[in-house]
Amino acid sequence: MTRKTPKNIISTDQFSRESLEDLFLLTDDIIANPAKYAKMLDGKIVSTLFYEPSTRTRLSFESAACRLGASVISTENAREVSSAVKGETLQDTIRVVNGYADAIVMRHSDVDSAEIAASVSSVPILNAGAGSGEHPTQALLDMYTIRQKKGDFNGLKVAISGDLLKGRTVHSLVKLLSLYDSVTIYGLSHKLLKLPQSYVDFMKEHDTKYIPCSEFTDLPADLDIIYHTRTQLERLESGAEKIKEYIIDKKVMSQFSPETYLLHPLPRIKEIAPEGDDDPRAIYFEQAHNGVKIRMALLAQVLTR
Ligand code: CP
Repeated sequence: MTRKTPKNIISTDQFSRESLEDLFLLTDDIIANPAKYAKMLDGKIVSTLFYEPSTRTRLSFESAACRLGASVISTENAREVSSAVKGETLQDTIRVVNGYADAIVMRHSDVDSAEIAASVSSVPILNAGAGSGEHPTQALLDMYTIRQKKGDFNGLKVAISGDLLKGRTVHSLVKLLSLYDSVTIYGLSHKLLKLPQSYVDFMKEHDTKYIPCSEFTDLPADLDIIYHTRTQLERLESGAEKIKEYIIDKKVMSQFSPETYLLHPLPRIKEIAPEGDDDPRAIYFEQAHNGVKIRMALLAQVLTR
C-alpha cells in the first residue's frame, strides 16, 4: 500500500516570501470573514499530542480547530499519561493516532521529533515546538503580528533578547526574517545564552546583518521590534545562577521610539515588568491572540488541499 504524502509544518525552512504572504492573506480573510470558515473543517478531527507543557500553543490550536468546525482529541501531558510511559516509541504512537485523527499537532522535547513523526505519518504533522530546535507556528504568528504593526519586513531593525541559545521561538523567527532584504538583527544575551552559530551562519548566508550585544544601551533608539524571551531554565543543565537576567521595564522602554514594539512569545516570568503592560508598544497579549487566527489558516491549508 502506498502512503499518501501529507502536507506538514515542520520547520520555517519550508517557507518562502510567497508562501508566507499566502498564509497571511488567508489569515486576514479569516479575521475579516469568520463565518465563511466556520464549517470548513466539519467532520475533521485534529489531535493535539503534547509531551511538554503548554498553554498558548495547545489551546490556540484547539480553539483554531473548533472555530473551523473540526473536533479535537488531546493528550496534554503525553510524557506522563500516554503509552510513552510504557515504552511505546514516538513512531508507533504516530502510526496509531493516524487512525484516529486527520492532523496531529505535536510538541516534544526532542529537536528531531517532528521530522521523525512526519517520516511515518499519513496525516499532516504540525510542529508545535521541538525541544530547543524550532517552533515554526509561533514564528509565523510573530511575523504576522510584526506585519500588522510595520506593514513590511524589508529594512526592519529587530532585537532578539534573552535566551537565544535554547529559545526555539527566536531560532524560527531569525530564519523567517532572513527571507527579507536589509534586515538587521541585534542579539542581546548573556554570554552563556548566545545564539547558536548555525543561526548566525544562516543569517550571513542570507545577507542579514547580525550584531551581538550585551546591554540594552547597545541597541539603537529607532529599533522596530524588541523580541524578548525568558531563560529556558528547564533546558539548562547547570549555571542558572551565573546568568544575568535582562529585565525590560518602563525605564528600558523609555530609550526607544514610539514605534518600537515589544513582543514576547510568553510565558513571561520576570523578564518583562508588568508595570509596562499598558504601554501601547507592549503587544505580547495581542501577539498571543493572533495564534488562533494563524493556526486556523495553517489547519485550513494542510487539511483542505
Ligand atoms: N509561546 C508558547 O509556545 O507558549 P506555550 O508554551 O504556552 O505554548
